Amino acid sequence: MPKIDVLILGSGIAGLSYALKVGERFPDKTIAVLTKAAEGESNTKYAQGGIATVTDTIADSYEKHIADTLAAGDGLCNPAIVQMVVEEGPKRLNELINWGINFDKSDLGEFDLGLEGGHSEHRILHFKDITGYEIERKLIRKIKQHKNIALLTEHFAVDLITQHHLKLPFTKQGVTCFGAYVYNQQTKEIVTYKAKVTLLATGGVGQVYRNTTNPLIATGDGIAMAYRAKAQISNMEFIQFHPTALAYQFSHGRSFLISEAVRGLGAVLKNEKGDAFMKNYDPRGDLASRDIVSRAIDNELKISGSDALYLDCTTISKKDFQYHFPNIYAQCKEIGLDVSKQMIPITPAAHYLCGGIDVDIHGCTSIKNLYACGECANTGLHGANRLASNSLLEALVFAHQSFLHTLEHITQADDPDEIPEWNSKDTFETRERILITHNRKELQSVMSDYVGIIRTNERLNRAAKRISVLYEETETLYRKSKLSTSLFELRNLISTAYLIVEQSKNRSQNKGGYYNSDLS
Ligand code: FAD
Ligand code: SIN
Repeated sequence: MPKIDVLILGSGIAGLSYALKVGERFPDKTIAVLTKAAEGESNTKYAQGGIATVTDTIADSYEKHIADTLAAGDGLCNPAIVQMVVEEGPKRLNELINWGINFDKSDLGEFDLGLEGGHSEHRILHFKDITGYEIERKLIRKIKQHKNIALLTEHFAVDLITQHHLKLPFTKQGVTCFGAYVYNQQTKEIVTYKAKVTLLATGGVGQVYRNTTNPLIATGDGIAMAYRAKAQISNMEFIQFHPTALAYQFSHGRSFLISEAVRGLGAVLKNEKGDAFMKNYDPRGDLASRDIVSRAIDNELKISGSDALYLDCTTISKKDFQYHFPNIYAQCKEIGLDVSKQMIPITPAAHYLCGGIDVDIHGCTSIKNLYACGECANTGLHGANRLASNSLLEALVFAHQSFLHTLEHITQADDPDEIPEWNSKDTFETRERILITHNRKELQSVMSDYVGIIRTNERLNRAAKRISVLYEETETLYRKSKLSTSLFELRNLISTAYLIVEQSKNRSQNKGGYYNSDLS
């Protein structure tokens, strides 16, 4: 049984930046960063637009960034958290730069600041249109320089270890986390990781839907684990749909994103007839906040009955497009699309979870010695709808907050002697993998058709019924089957979908990214 000081589940921006801070501050402590996939595979790796932070103190200000974040969140942000995150932004950005991460600059040496929906000023720092790739690879490179940090791939966290597993009484302080049971995908064994503190940095949930910008890893594992451990989880109904995923192209479980920064540079959304329509929905037009643009596109799609609308980039010169968006340019070219002459077919896709595991200002969950950070956490920053490019910022700031809290509390963390090994079951390999793959696809269909951009009470009730059947079937299979990551993920997807539907049903007012036409 590995005994370590700090266990980090997830190797995206949240997990890696926390690991670096703890690793640098405590060279004598043992730290493990575990990921179920290859080392860089994460939502972080695919981030395009960049990081929203106030660096231009003449045109921009903290007050403006705070006001834009609060407006996007539609009254449900925690104002104190918004202020803290925005004001911490420049300091955390400087740390990233000191770790070797590059951001584009003009010939005069100033940051080349992008504009995205809901922002009143240009304030998005980016590296071309591959900001996330630049961050991910540089953080991994830096992590590898630390002898006290182990980065372990193909290690799938299955469950958090709490009193429940130790058969200890629950104290007044509630649940305590002692580490996690982890499936080593190479040896096919469950390993018990005992840790003083654990950080959940397992990312998003996009794979709950059929059409998503998120890679295959985004199956809500951290949220489902926290739910099973009885952590508080909220705002799950606020799923953000990105307005512009490339239509008809689906590869490795995800749709390619056409960054909002493309609209920031002048591209215009058009309907089937070739008419620009966004001004009919919001005075800010194509740069209204994401919830408004996605709903408008959904409405136009329903009016026209077509599968996709268009993004007209012909207003941007080919040279400018290639300079700012080389990755998007290359992807379009690969499918035979010349963006300087042809419009890009687009459709909205599930993109980001605004809610998640509740944390306080220090990143602490409702479970002792358990932090959550990044997309799996509900910090209060996003409210009902995240402002574009605020999530990389949030992950960095909360990794820092969690680090500060760890600094103060790690020595006081509970350290039980006896942790039982995983209860290895007498199991058999299912001969019918179709039982798993079909249920995953069925869940995605139910969620896409009934719990999408526009919801109704009837569709939510139908979704709840279908999910309960999928739950029963999957639990029965789980009880008798051999360990399998696809089955672990299916269970987690079902729990995540359950939380999205139940919390949707509990919402009595439309806000931000949540829209139930029976409430309007
Ligand atoms: P992730 O980066 O998703 O990392 C999660 C990690 O957890 C992965 O390593 C994964 O393998 C691991 N993991 C998951 N489950 C388990 C398990 N059971 N056991 C072990 N490991 C596990 N935000 C912005 O602010 N600006 C942008 O420009 C931007 N663009 C985006 C573009 C795209 C296409 C997408 C998908 C998202 C974008 N976002 C953007 C959102 C942002 O990228 C994410 O919210 C953020 O990167 C999440 O970081 P994270 O560290 O929380 O999770
Ligand atoms: C984008 O580049 O459009 C994505 C930005 C984000 O999700 O914050």
